Amino acid sequence: MGRKVGIIGAGAVGATAAYSLSMMGTCKEIVLFDIAEGVAEGKAIDIAQSNHYTPCAGTIITAAKTPADVKDCDIVVITAGVPRKGDMTREDLLMINAKIIKSVTQDIMKSSPNAIIICVSNPLDVMTYAIHKITGWESNRIIGMAGALDGSRMAYQIYKKLGYGAGQTGSLVIGDHGQNMIPLPQQVKIGAVPATAVLSKEDMEDIIERTKNGGAEIVKYLGTSGYYAPGRAIAFMVEAILNDSQVMVSSSVLLNGKYGYSDVCVGVPVILGQSGIEKIVEISLDKEISAKFKISVNSIKEGIDILNKNHFFD
Ligand code: NAI
Ligand code: 2OP
Repeated sequence: MGRKVGIIGAGAVGATAAYSLSMMGTCKEIVLFDIAEGVAEGKAIDIAQSNHYTPCAGTIITAAKTPADVKDCDIVVITAGVPRKGDMTREDLLMINAKIIKSVTQDIMKSSPNAIIICVSNPLDVMTYAIHKITGWESNRIIGMAGALDGSRMAYQIYKKLGYGAGQTGSLVIGDHGQNMIPLPQQVKIGAVPATAVLSKEDMEDIIERTKNGGAEIVKYLGTSGYYAPGRAIAFMVEAILNDSQVMVSSSVLLNGKYGYSDVCVGVPVILGQSGIEKIVEISLDKEISAKFKISVNSIKEGIDILNKNHFFD
């Protein structure tokens, strides 16, 4: 596999992903594209200049003038979208971002026909599903980034409670990337010790709530959503694919029977490697978590229904 990565949408998250990748020296080349004039050019120059002090310097960072110039990429990350504005309904926002995703995806199909696509734009699970439908590509090549971020938010909350175990804490968040996400701290270990041995039930409940509100907490302080942790989570996934790491990370993927659902994208643990999704890992869910997973899947299906109602795939 080559090491060329395209990033469509050089806003806060896209540019931070590019910066994180360039700091790690993982890619040979990163190409940024943004519809807003000058944004990709300015950020590409800035990130390229930061390379001077990077131990792993050498990543070529360029800006594409047109979507067609984001070509022959091994991975394309989609971070294009518009934020919700005051008078927009959830449905308005979904349809606006879906139209952006459609045009971006059609460009990728022409310019990088062999790429693996990582979708980041929201609503994440519905947009990931839309990319599957638009491309018709093998399902292992389209991956939604959410669990990697929500998992890092959960690990952060566990560390805040314990005061130890940074970098040693597993994480697992399944379901949708929204209010019905399902953080599973009881499934993880700190080092080799099960979290259940060192955290009380109340602690666990607090960790679950804080993880679910992890994105909103940042919006409360900044007035905009976070981008450092999302950017790093994207870079982690890109690195796993380029390096064929075979790491397990929760991602939004198309289910075709696994977990008892089909024709929907939702977050479950997967193995990432050079084929994109190497394997969907099916863990057993108890009755309570199964019920929550059903609610989560249904909330994503409501979004997909909005696309169908608006003849999006016709
Ligand atoms: P942003 O507003 O800073 O950047 C979005 C960029 O997309 C803008 O620069 C805009 O000009 C560009 N854009 C819009 N239409 C385009 C098109 N057709 N082609 C190319 N570029 C286009 O937003 P931010 O904070 O970077 O977030 C990007 C997206 O990622 C949003 O949808 C956000 O909700 C989502 N997000 C998802 C996360 C996840 O865990 N999946 C985490 C954080 C953000
Ligand atoms: C987040 O979780 C907005 O999806 C974005 O921060």
